[in-house]
Amino acid sequence: MKEQLESVFKARFTETPRVYSAAGRINLIGEHTDYNDGYVFPGAIDKVIIAAIAPNGTDRVNVVAADLNEETSFGLNEEDAPAEQWARYIFGVAREIIKRGGKVGGFDAVFGGNVPLGAGLSSSAALESCFAFALNDIFNDNAIDKFELARIGQSTEHNYCGVNCGIMDQFASIFGKEGQLVRLDCRSMEHEYYPFKPEGYSLVLIDSRVKHELKDSPYNRRRESCERVAAALGMKTLRDATMEGLEAVKDRISDEDYHRARFVIGEKERVLAVCDALKRGDYETVGEMMYKTHEGLSGDYAVSCEELDFLNDIARKTGVTGSRIMGGGFGGCTINLVKDELVDNFVNTARNEFEARYGHAPVVYDVVISEGARRLE
Ligand code: GLA
Repeated sequence: MKEQLESVFKARFTETPRVYSAAGRINLIGEHTDYNDGYVFPGAIDKVIIAAIAPNGTDRVNVVAADLNEETSFGLNEEDAPAEQWARYIFGVAREIIKRGGKVGGFDAVFGGNVPLGAGLSSSAALESCFAFALNDIFNDNAIDKFELARIGQSTEHNYCGVNCGIMDQFASIFGKEGQLVRLDCRSMEHEYYPFKPEGYSLVLIDSRVKHELKDSPYNRRRESCERVAAALGMKTLRDATMEGLEAVKDRISDEDYHRARFVIGEKERVLAVCDALKRGDYETVGEMMYKTHEGLSGDYAVSCEELDFLNDIARKTGVTGSRIMGGGFGGCTINLVKDELVDNFVNTARNEFEARYGHAPVVYDVVISEGARRLE
């Protein structure tokens, strides 16, 4: 992919570019906890966005989206926002760097990638992280630290893309390490890497191909529910909320908000239980927690859809150790922890039964836990 993007760059522009990569992510457990200051447990994957970039000495940005065969050009002032959604991610990153006092001049770029779009694997965070990392290297001598790079991507979502997301995706895309998941405390940003090579098990992602689109989606409304309950509890976020505390304010909040908060409080505990279980090599407990997360995401949090529930049922039926919706929900993938000897049967059953029911086959992804954002030499 790198060579291909470099040759597109060479055909279109005159400079010699530097090339950068940033990854999509999986998340073992800890969904919708990041914006509640809770814990998440993601890792970067071997599905990446790669960009070839060079400063062009002007005040304009020219970008080619190689996979879409589209090109656009924009300035770097607030009023120069491009119309194309993919370009808004890049514009937003540049603007957020400038707002923080960083430098960004005009540049030429070609990017492409293999992070499936709308699958819940954070293709947008990969794009943001790739450009944040690159513009920091090219224009700022890497003066911006990696935490701030992740926040730059997150602010891009908030201010230029309409998604009030948490920090998980951009964090994973930037901080990911080969073969390791990382447990992040989204309040303190303390994080701990966990080698993840479960002997005898595989991680299988099954994409329902129901397009998950967080913009204008109920995603932001989920966050608002959590904020209302936190306010009723007299807290900033649900991080320190307990089930007892929630019960005590039950008649002061809506039934819907009660259910949303109940999921988040349970999920916070599940991440910690999974971390303990992993230290013991107890994958049965990991799997059990994943199923509980699915139940909560589908029931209390209401971010599932029929197709994802169907895939979850097939996982149970075929003896899969753990299975759940991954990412924001409303479509996209399930993540499945499967004993190696059961993988073929699970995948075939899921393909056949899903296609018979919905008229299209789901897509199965192998993922390898890989490095986060970096320059490719
Ligand atoms: C999306 C958001 C993340 C996180 C997840 C749900 O991926 O971008 O910040 O909230 O949903 O865990």
